[in-house]
Amino acid sequence: MKNICALILMFSLLTISAQEIQSPSKEIKVEFSLNAEGTPVYKVMYKGEEVVKSSKMGISLKDLPALDKNFSILNEENQSVDENWEPVLGEQSSIRNHYNETTFHLLQKETGSKLDIVFKVYNEGVAFRYEFPIVDAVKYFVVSEENTEFNLTGDHKTFWIPGDFDSQEYNYNESKLSEIDNSSLDLNNGIALQSISGKHMVQSPLMMKSEDGLYVNIFEAAVVNYPVMHLKVNPENYQLKATLVPNAIGDKAYLRTPSVTPWRTIMVSDDARDIVGSKMILNLNEPNKIEDVSWIKPMKYVGIWWEMHVGKSTWDFAGSQNAQNAASSELVPSGKHGATTENTKRYIDFAAKHGFDGVLVEGWNVGWEDWFGNWKEDVFDFVTPYPDFNLKEVSDYAKSKGVKMIMHHETSGSVANYERHLDRAFNLMEDYGYPAVKTGYVGKIIPRGEFHDGQTMVNHFNYVAQRAADYKIMVNSHESVRPTGYSRTYPNYIAAEAARGNEFNAWSSGNDPKHETILPFTRLLGGPMDYTPGIFEIKMNYYDPNKTEQVHTTLAKQLALYVTMYSPLQMAADLPENYERYLDAFQFIKDVPADWQDSKYLEAEPGDYLTIARKDKNSESWFLGAITDENSRKSEIKLDFLTPGKKYKATIYADGKDADWKKNPKSYAIKSKTVTSSSNLKLELAAGGGTAISIVPID
Ligand code: NOJ
Ligand code: CA
Repeated sequence: MKNICALILMFSLLTISAQEIQSPSKEIKVEFSLNAEGTPVYKVMYKGEEVVKSSKMGISLKDLPALDKNFSILNEENQSVDENWEPVLGEQSSIRNHYNETTFHLLQKETGSKLDIVFKVYNEGVAFRYEFPIVDAVKYFVVSEENTEFNLTGDHKTFWIPGDFDSQEYNYNESKLSEIDNSSLDLNNGIALQSISGKHMVQSPLMMKSEDGLYVNIFEAAVVNYPVMHLKVNPENYQLKATLVPNAIGDKAYLRTPSVTPWRTIMVSDDARDIVGSKMILNLNEPNKIEDVSWIKPMKYVGIWWEMHVGKSTWDFAGSQNAQNAASSELVPSGKHGATTENTKRYIDFAAKHGFDGVLVEGWNVGWEDWFGNWKEDVFDFVTPYPDFNLKEVSDYAKSKGVKMIMHHETSGSVANYERHLDRAFNLMEDYGYPAVKTGYVGKIIPRGEFHDGQTMVNHFNYVAQRAADYKIMVNSHESVRPTGYSRTYPNYIAAEAARGNEFNAWSSGNDPKHETILPFTRLLGGPMDYTPGIFEIKMNYYDPNKTEQVHTTLAKQLALYVTMYSPLQMAADLPENYERYLDAFQFIKDVPADWQDSKYLEAEPGDYLTIARKDKNSESWFLGAITDENSRKSEIKLDFLTPGKKYKATIYADGKDADWKKNPKSYAIKSKTVTSSSNLKLELAAGGGTAISIVPID
């Protein structure tokens, strides 16, 4: 149902007095004006309170006058939109897109340049972007910086990771804006490549909370043909300033007229649930461009993966996992190679037995001997298997068991090489019937000098999704740019990592117990994350008594993550033999869907806790996930989202009485009871714990 109303065009030369745009609810207001220098400025109010103080806008160009002053407003266009659309895969089957929009057409008299600034004001926040219209003829230009400011009103509590042009795989820091300081961070955190760009640089989404309880989130949507925006914090006046990620020669973006920048977004509410449940970022992206979407499916998978991360087996054929031994002429297998035909069949059997859709195999192809750390260009060819991995045998076997294979393309950052091989690699997948690929970008980028977050790489990640769509392939990228809603436009881009995933718990200082309570307010706003939950053997000394690493949650919290960390692609990440020992708890992972009709955000506080209930896309069953940070937590949940008059069986996977993420993470208790829409459930979460519940109708 599309209802576009009130298209008003005003062709008069407007004065410089402030123009106001309100949200449909009227609770959010934006004021736009030109200051005495003719610089565009805006401010944002929520329920009458200032959220963003008067802040400048503008773009600096290379070798051309900046688009940041001497403007006049030529005219203004307004429209209101209220429509619903259906995502192919999602947290709900229908999404409402409801906003008021104003476009200001600006003219810079001296240069004749035109700039449009478009605002969309939603009930959860404000979005704006710059548009570069054609004046007389198409013009090419280079953006040297974006001068957008976000002048905040106080020293808010902030959940931040450092402004790193190559990685977002950090734990979040929780501090006041004025205390942000990258020089104080412990960088011995397991991140392979770090390119922190300055003492006060942070990444978005930046989640904040004001002293009087307002939740404010700054992010961007639809980053297409443009670099990622990082934010420079001024700790004295709480100003954030856009800083675009540069390319190898220091330029930011190569554009032409007509073109547009990504949307800059400011979400605000006095209820944290409005932020975590917002679909604003998806709404700001272009609608789906893939005509036939019948092949885009949710997928739960297992894989030859965690066994390498815990050191049980290796990616490379010789089994040394020495990334320097390519030079040695003979590679003698030591029996530790994970991706063998035989081991793959074992995973396929396990997937088939327990109803999983797919099996991922990493380390199947030649190249892992020196895959990383040498800035080498031709590492992998993405088509040549190791001698102990028989592609045909594996694919035939998977097919006979009704299981799909997930391809792995680790590029180790050599994008030039990957693009050269992309079509051959996708052809091979087509030949053997692989419907999905996991890509990886560990290490320094080639073309040399490019960063993971620059315009070149943004274009690469989007291109891979587009090209994959031509082959009906779904993409899950690791170490990529963090998503900004592009999965609406290319729904085959089903997931990405692009944040600190569960893997860090296997071999580094790991992920803070609060980590998973922050990601849904930050990284997940842009799209699904392949977090890879489901680790049951929590402590790594299970594999080697000398190991001290561990997953920083309880086992029950690992189950709850299947609900709180939305993704249509979900891995059961632990080893088959570990699941076999806890089949009662494993049942939840088998039952939980990865695609939803509806989602209810019941309790939310960034950095503290999150409780979400979701309704299966294809049945009347509900699934609930509740998680907490390092503190234990009690709460009572009303089940009033259930259909009145219906009876359900609730199976509750809770922390055991003595559970604790550090001292006793594997203690859990499973209970079941009959519930209705008038039932309340008492939840008791251990420190670092969680509860997962399946609620299935009793016919
Ligand atoms: C990092 C990825 O996040 C991980 O999932 C993968 O196993 C390794 N790279 C190797 O490609
Ligand atoms: Ca990673």
